[in-house]
Amino acid sequence: MSDFAKDSVMLQNIWQQPQVVADCLAMDLPLPDWLQDPTSTQRLVLLACGSSRHAALVAQHWFESLTKLPTRVLDAAEWTDRPPLLEPGTTIVALSQSGKTKDLLEALAQIQTSHPGEFKVLAIANVEASPLVQMADAGIVTPAGVEGAVAATKSFTAQLAVLARLAVDLAQSRGIVDLTRAAALRSDLAQLPKAIETTLTELKTQAVGEGWGLDWMMRESVVLLGRALMQPIALEGALKLKETCYVHAEGFGAGDFCHGPMAILKPGFPVIALMTSSTLSDQKIRSDLDRFRSFGSYIIGIGPRDHGLLPGLDEVLEVEPIADWLMPFLMVLPLQLLAYDWARSLDLDVDQPRYLTKFIG
Ligand code: AGP
Repeated sequence: MSDFAKDSVMLQNIWQQPQVVADCLAMDLPLPDWLQDPTSTQRLVLLACGSSRHAALVAQHWFESLTKLPTRVLDAAEWTDRPPLLEPGTTIVALSQSGKTKDLLEALAQIQTSHPGEFKVLAIANVEASPLVQMADAGIVTPAGVEGAVAATKSFTAQLAVLARLAVDLAQSRGIVDLTRAAALRSDLAQLPKAIETTLTELKTQAVGEGWGLDWMMRESVVLLGRALMQPIALEGALKLKETCYVHAEGFGAGDFCHGPMAILKPGFPVIALMTSSTLSDQKIRSDLDRFRSFGSYIIGIGPRDHGLLPGLDEVLEVEPIADWLMPFLMVLPLQLLAYDWARSLDLDVDQPRYLTKFIG
């Protein structure tokens, strides 16, 4: 192991996540009046780039299922090329770790110039004195602290924690979930810091490091598959692998993967499958995997302990079980560690990947 690997900031950032999530759960989270008001906010647009957009894709499920607000996720990097139509009553939630990403700031500036005062903006950033927070009508600053590595890890889980709280608080304040249900959801959230810590500790002993089938790591391509809440985690895992290992990693919704992309599979081709429960989605992915195995693919399954869908795969990694809606927090951890470990095995600088900077200005 090279010296920079021993001192890797990325690994430190990964291990800070239990505390970061605990801090996100403990922080004040005032809800602006216009967000609670059913006339002012009738729908949400979540606007972001990169990992922040992946956090938004997870939160889209939460907002729609808990608050019943129709929610779209839009890629800020595409906005100025094709500004989407915004309906009246839309509130924009702009997400950015740095609060300085040019694509996002330009998208917001365009919205504010072409529709002055029409759409409220809630910023969620990790840096208080950032242009994004200054442009917004209200801001939430995540308490993740400085994220020194280029690859987002703790800022991603911090965004998820704040978004999950926001979805629960909003659902309660708008009368969509009652007090008892809100308390149950908050009790799920309270399990997170311990579950994240236990998962990281157990992953260390399970496989990460010496294990992780170095054989398949030598391949140049890997696909990551998930359904529902796991689809954005597949995208996020693939982004981590591309950034830190320069490997061709693609994340897909497992359903979409069957509509053509699966033709790339061949004997030995590694497929990382994310499965979280025994829901229909997971039963479907299990049957997809049986098909992919018949093409000779090498399947690495990731899922909660005692999950019941993982047996018979080529490799298995387990995370702590937690309420289904919070599984993204735990399922991203093995992928972060995989990206770190894989990069380290290639003797790459995990903190400062080639060509990349911490924010794109
Ligand atoms: C994440 O690992 C990347 N470094 C990148 O995709 C990043 O998330 C994206 O550039 C958006 O950055 P932001 O959250 O600071 O706006």
